[in-house]
Amino acid sequence: MKNEYIPHPAVIESVQTESFDTKTFKIAFEKKALAESFDYKPGQFVQVSLLGVGEAPISIASCPGRKGFLELTIRAAGKLTRAIHQREPGDKIHLRGPYGNSFPFEEVAGKGLYFIAGGIGLPPLRGLIKSALYGRGNFGKIKILYGAKTPDELCFKEELKTWKQMDNTEVYLTVDEPNQSWQGDVGVVTKLWDKANMTTSDGIAYVCGPPIMIKFVVMNLLKSGFKDENIYITLERYMKCGIGKCGHCNIGEKFVCTDGPVFSYAQLKEFPDKEKTIT
Ligand SMILES: Cc1cc2nc3c(=O)[nH]c(=O)nc-3n(C[C@H](O)[C@H](O)[C@H](O)COP(=O)(O)OP(=O)(O)OC[C@H]3O[C@@H](n4cnc5c(N)ncnc54)[C@H](O)[C@@H]3O)c2cc1C
Ligand code: FES
Repeated sequence: MKNEYIPHPAVIESVQTESFDTKTFKIAFEKKALAESFDYKPGQFVQVSLLGVGEAPISIASCPGRKGFLELTIRAAGKLTRAIHQREPGDKIHLRGPYGNSFPFEEVAGKGLYFIAGGIGLPPLRGLIKSALYGRGNFGKIKILYGAKTPDELCFKEELKTWKQMDNTEVYLTVDEPNQSWQGDVGVVTKLWDKANMTTSDGIAYVCGPPIMIKFVVMNLLKSGFKDENIYITLERYMKCGIGKCGHCNIGEKFVCTDGPVFSYAQLKEFPDKEKTIT
């Protein structure tokens, strides 16, 4: 019988530094057939491990249309992630997955897409943003609102510039603590609201960031006319198995690893009171 916990060996192909504590790793499975057939959707995650160190869930930051490799953007937060940051191209790493549900995509064709992220919250949205930009004609306006503590902590700095140049696409950036060369906005991501003209009746919002940011973003989205069922939020919980067996990630009756990590606000509103982390 197949053991679901056994990860697949993979090799780090390249490493891109995003900020002082965050790097993007391009990773390919060792088995060529697996590398070519590995299928995932934006919003899903993999369990990443270094043998003898540990394992952690990390969102897939690449675009599913690009086959043969995955990109994972990882913040050095603790024992495992700091050890991964020491790894270089050519080094081995292990992955299992993909796990979890995904953001609605094909089913929202024709609608305006609004991405709101804070800090390390942009990587889980990146695959979706890239898929939407490649299929540009299928959607209405695309607006990306992104905030970080400092200019250094913005991920994908070059891509943000490219996205801004694309047709019918708007990118708004803000930081809490500007440096001398920063020319963008200053303050929390909701400060961008009026500038980005966020009013809509049928837009789809995708939100990822720290819980306090999510709370205020959702309040603003509701005031701007977004419907509960059109607001999608990806949640981070402590996880062990990633496959609905250990119970580490449950919120009431839901497992974040299998029922999520993406939930609509309409779903989150129904979560038990003590677990209403964002509402
Ligand atoms: C579905 C999902 C997707 C994720 N995607 C990403 C991603 O794309 N990039 C990324 O850098 N991180 C992501 N994370 C968070 C990542 O899994 C944790 O940072 C990682 O487990 C830390 O492992 P560690 O051994 O390095 O740190 P540890 O030594 O275990 O912990 C270091 C610190 O991080 C805190 N921590 C650990 N796990 C979590 C968690 N799940 N939520 C909040 N705090 C935590 C601990 O309390 C501690 O303060 C994701 C988590 C989930 C559940
Ligand atoms: S992480 Fe084990 S049940 Fe979700």
